[in-house]
Amino acid sequence: MKKRESFSVLATRFLTRRDALKGIGAVGVAAASSGGLLASCSKESPTLPEMGTPPLTFEEIPRMLDATHHVAPGYDARVLVSWGDRLFDASPAFNADLQTASAQSLQFGYNNDFIAYFPLTDSGKEPALGMAPDSDTRGLLCVNHEYTNAYLMFRGYSGWKDSGAGINRQQIEVEMAAHGHSILEVQKQGGTWSVEVDSPYNRRLTMSTPMRMTGPAAGHARLQTPADPSGTRVLGTMGNCAGGVTPWGTVLIAEENFRYNFGGYPEKIQEAHPREARNHARFGFGGHERRQWYREFPRFNIENDPTEANRFGWMVEFDPYDPHSEPKKRTALGRFQHEGCSVVAVEGQPLVAYAGDDGIDEYVYKFISRNNYEAANGRANSDLFDDGILYVARFYDDGRGEWLPLEFGRNGLTPQNGFDDQGDVLIDTRIAADVVGATPMDRPEDIDTNPVTGRTYVSLTKNKGREKTDGANPRAANAWGHIVEILAPGDDGHRDHATTNFNWDIFVLAGDPDPTSESRGQYGEGITDAGWFCNPDNIAFDYYGRIWIATDNASLFDFHDGLWAAETTGPRRAQTRHFFGCPRGAELCGPCFTPDGKSLFVAVQHPADEDDSNFLKPSTRWPNFRDNEPPRPSVVAITRRDGKLIGD
Ligand code: FEO
Ligand code: CA
Repeated sequence: MKKRESFSVLATRFLTRRDALKGIGAVGVAAASSGGLLASCSKESPTLPEMGTPPLTFEEIPRMLDATHHVAPGYDARVLVSWGDRLFDASPAFNADLQTASAQSLQFGYNNDFIAYFPLTDSGKEPALGMAPDSDTRGLLCVNHEYTNAYLMFRGYSGWKDSGAGINRQQIEVEMAAHGHSILEVQKQGGTWSVEVDSPYNRRLTMSTPMRMTGPAAGHARLQTPADPSGTRVLGTMGNCAGGVTPWGTVLIAEENFRYNFGGYPEKIQEAHPREARNHARFGFGGHERRQWYREFPRFNIENDPTEANRFGWMVEFDPYDPHSEPKKRTALGRFQHEGCSVVAVEGQPLVAYAGDDGIDEYVYKFISRNNYEAANGRANSDLFDDGILYVARFYDDGRGEWLPLEFGRNGLTPQNGFDDQGDVLIDTRIAADVVGATPMDRPEDIDTNPVTGRTYVSLTKNKGREKTDGANPRAANAWGHIVEILAPGDDGHRDHATTNFNWDIFVLAGDPDPTSESRGQYGEGITDAGWFCNPDNIAFDYYGRIWIATDNASLFDFHDGLWAAETTGPRRAQTRHFFGCPRGAELCGPCFTPDGKSLFVAVQHPADEDDSNFLKPSTRWPNFRDNEPPRPSVVAITRRDGKLIGD
């Protein structure tokens, strides 16, 4: 039987969380700080009648599929920033027909995904540690740009199938400038959020931004290229999907589907570079070539440059408060199709970072640092990411689990299996995880830790090809996805994440809950017809630790992607409710709350990305619906008209 918590305990926790957040600088810090804070605050909390988490009271919207977005009644959902919007005084106004790489590098990028919010003080400064209040009306929005859809960005293509082969050098350069990340100052005035154009914090990271490799694989021979014999200097980041934040005020952005930006066939380098042939084949290189950058830029052809691709697929950390800071690719966190990153930092204990690898039958990972997190060390805590052990998860059918270390010389990670040092283990993380016997999962998307309970949630979006089921992936031909709950040892609010064992549970089996349906979804009691969803992807937690789940690919089931929310404990656990819906062709990404819980930013990615849709005849011209203007991926700011907390 699950323990329930008193409302006063919860309320005290929120105050304590917010006190802790003051000045540290990140909305996701709550997750990072939970363990230690909760341990201390519950001791001083009086015991009052058990009430549990406040219920979600918004009126649900129906599941539908149309040209625009929808939010629950009583809320405003206004477009804040769109692909091509100006970030600097020097930025040209957006014009899809005149788009250039130099213009794009000064504008908001394409296909917005992960969002993080970092507060600024009223005078526009970074809050000082432990001193300034966090600001819920002025901050930095950090937004990933995952990929590009040439057939919706440029004239002349009938659809995605002919845009790869047809693309020219100028368009490729626009695509490279549209990837990466945007940092933009935002302010809320009169209840409405807007972008501060030309704020000194505004910045773009693109495929031209210099970055540094750090950690055990930095400088490794397999990271050296003709352009960079040091193996430590890389131009650019790509495939930036989800991410995470740290308590010391930095962002982690994932490099996910980098393989689509490379050309060439692994079998053609088998003789000369057998190790790289195995590596690239494990990622499925060859035959994709969706963007065909390799035709104009030889570094993206693995037959020309077998190691350049090894410099992508990492987790990248940077400091959004310093517009000149150098992003760092943290090799100790492994190389795979990184999706999200959930950092758990408890004072005086090792730093923990959870991550998922979004691929069919791929794995869930956890990094534990060698040294301990000390809040007073501020930004110096970043060095913790360079020294530690990466683990991969094995889920047993009885509800237990084990984190298996990926260390050179142990568990078969030896020269006999193609590993000569720890650099090899990290560059070939997927192969190392195969060798140690990790559990193949149904496409791990986002992973996030509830700041109130310390439970960790993994979105498994789908795996239609699954034949052999197991406890943690219980449905064959899983077209709908599910969410697994990882329980680190301890009780809610007191979980020890720096350990190598865990328990797990199924939080939701997505799909139609009708017992006569093919999916036979499983949710909490009392779910409505609007409340079920398919294909969970990004996750966020609100002020009270309620889960908000964004989806990708529900249109295959003839309704929109969007946002669903639920409590994670108590009688309404997993009773998901439908809050926001996307325009057709779009998936929803990046749900991100301000620390006061009164604003919610969401990223509407790839509107009109459908068959029979293109630049001239898109299936929607969201968000502006102007003739001749293509659909534009955009961040939407959601607020409540009565000024209260989102969801209540
Ligand atoms: Fe970029 Fe796995 O979603
Ligand atoms: Ca995703």
